[in-house]
Amino acid sequence: MYQNIQQKLLRSVNAIRKQTDFQPSVALVLGSGLGQYAEQMELVCEIPYDTIPDFPHSTVAGHDGRYLFGYVSGVPVVAMKGRVHYYEGYDISDVVLPIRVMGMLGAKTLVLTNAAGGIDPTFVPGDLMLITDQIASAVPSPLRGSNLAELGERFPDMSEIYDRALCEQIRKTASELGIALRGGVYVQTAGPNYETPAEIRSYRVAGASAVGMSTGCEAIAAKHMGMRICGISCITNMAAGILDQPLNHEEVQEVADRVRHTFQKLVTAVIGQLER
Ligand code: HPA
Repeated sequence: MYQNIQQKLLRSVNAIRKQTDFQPSVALVLGSGLGQYAEQMELVCEIPYDTIPDFPHSTVAGHDGRYLFGYVSGVPVVAMKGRVHYYEGYDISDVVLPIRVMGMLGAKTLVLTNAAGGIDPTFVPGDLMLITDQIASAVPSPLRGSNLAELGERFPDMSEIYDRALCEQIRKTASELGIALRGGVYVQTAGPNYETPAEIRSYRVAGASAVGMSTGCEAIAAKHMGMRICGISCITNMAAGILDQPLNHEEVQEVADRVRHTFQKLVTAVIGQLER
């Protein structure tokens, strides 16, 4: 298992290094709504996941999967257009493999984005939420199995996954741009089914403000490697039971699409302030 993960990581990095010597300082995961983010980048190279040996690629229809290498406001960035989710059936270590690869390519800061359901009843669909902490105990830890000591320690501290100083900087940036930014705890579920109202009530009592099916495990893997992390959720719907109406995937996509310009603007400004 351990050998297997290590080999996959090395094979992936080698395959990428055969195609580009680009040195990213920032890694970015593009969630729903940021699928068109390549428009904001001065692209240098694109590598489809299915050209990298053993690399997980999405099974969800219409989910493109590729790394984008390029510059955002002069900052060298590797972006993931498309991510794999635990609900697709991959082992959790495969789900986080693309994140670890970005760290191994040299990225020091990770910007995570996603679509999420609002649990905080003061949220409205279309809000953006800065992730301040997370609950990811509904999925296995991506660090399960032998420790990859080259990446990090066996029992890494998770008391500050989302870098406080970076969060403060992002709040300031949003305020300067006149973009309203909420804040809160993100809870990751295993999916693919949406949650029940009773589950959402339990997450609310536990302190969660938003729920989604990605990101938590990615942040743990990145923190293990010592990356500096921040995350922004696009609240695409109210979580189950908050409103008296069923949830659907189309609504999630519609709202993500509606907010995309504001979301793009914020992410670009945030990256522009990171060191090159
Ligand atoms: N639940 C889980 N994942 C989600 C949701 C939700 O309500 N909205 C967008 N992703």
